Amino acid sequence: MRQVVCRTFGPVEQVGVEDAPEPRPRPGEVVVAVRAAGVNFVDALLVQGSYQIKPPLPFTPGGEIAGEIAELGADVTSVARGDRVVVSCGLGGFVERLAVPAEVVRRLPANLSFEQGAALVQSYATALFALTRRARVRSDDWVLVLGAGGGVGLASVDVARHLGARVVAGASSADKLAAAAALGAHAGVNYATEDLKSRVREITGGVQVVVDPVGGSYADAALRTLRAFGQYLIVGFAAGTIPSLRANLVLLTNRSAIGVDWGAWSVQHADENRALVDEVLALAGSGALHPSAPQVYPLERAADALAALQSRRLTGKVVLRP
Ligand SMILES: NC(=O)c1ccc[n+]([C@@H]2O[C@H](COP(=O)([O-])OP(=O)(O)OC[C@H]3O[C@@H](n4cnc5c(N)ncnc54)[C@H](OP(=O)(O)O)[C@@H]3O)[C@@H](O)[C@H]2O)c1
Repeated sequence: MRQVVCRTFGPVEQVGVEDAPEPRPRPGEVVVAVRAAGVNFVDALLVQGSYQIKPPLPFTPGGEIAGEIAELGADVTSVARGDRVVVSCGLGGFVERLAVPAEVVRRLPANLSFEQGAALVQSYATALFALTRRARVRSDDWVLVLGAGGGVGLASVDVARHLGARVVAGASSADKLAAAAALGAHAGVNYATEDLKSRVREITGGVQVVVDPVGGSYADAALRTLRAFGQYLIVGFAAGTIPSLRANLVLLTNRSAIGVDWGAWSVQHADENRALVDEVLALAGSGALHPSAPQVYPLERAADALAALQSRRLTGKVVLRP
């Protein structure tokens, strides 16, 4: 079978496809035939060696997959051959077939495609964790989402709208703002061409919550859009620069700056995370959340997919199809 391999830390262009032995399920494991593998910003950071965790080399990137159960190890009764499932595997997902413990697979709701399923959990679990576990977004709150046309951004728009909040989307292009509007954003600000702080204040009068997966130069303006007791959710630094939030702007009017580290929490609080992921799947399965259809690249073009994410060109999510 084929798999994507990263042999040295460096530019994403160096990952390639290699042959690998077929995985065999050990007792308690299943082999999933991967139909789509989600590509996330963190996969690019892992390949570059710039993520906080450095896997031993060589390794296969890919943190989440959707597919069908192809083989069952001894003692596995919780799933059957042919079941449609999603798996958050952390690493190793850019492959044709993957052996995983049966207990980590989750059923893919019937209304979702393999592509939607493979692109769902990381972005939506982060958004739901941010907006319901770290902040408590309420009906009619205004939520400013930065990078609103990206993976975490679009998921945050969708989750905030589901919670009854009003969303103002911030993004750098008309396409990205249109994608956020399609998921229910009430207003949009193009922060590449408009003044973020004054436009958001004009539209909202001040927001209760900022979701920031971007960092960089927008953070200061975004912090200034918060009203009294507003909450600034620090999710990521896709712009490549970690911003310094001014402590006086947090102090004034009793604002809070709140870290959102779903990745670490999901490992340290496995039971609570299972409930969170089941909530995401149930909401998407019932039609309460609306994950967009991702762009699809063949497995051979893993390097292009990772480069596209980093180029800031992409709107929405991207998956690999083995
Ligand atoms: N804390 C957590 O638990 C957690 C979980 C998942 C992801 N993350 C982090 O959240 C961040 C976003 O992840 P994502 O999956 O949403 O990524 P994504 O789909 O690539 O979206 C990131 C967005 O950031 C904006 N951006 C601004 N400057 C950029 C640049 N120089 N290069 C690339 N994008 C740039 C882009 O929107 P505009 O062009 O509109 O500005 C882009 O749409 C990453 O840093 C990721 O590691 C954190």
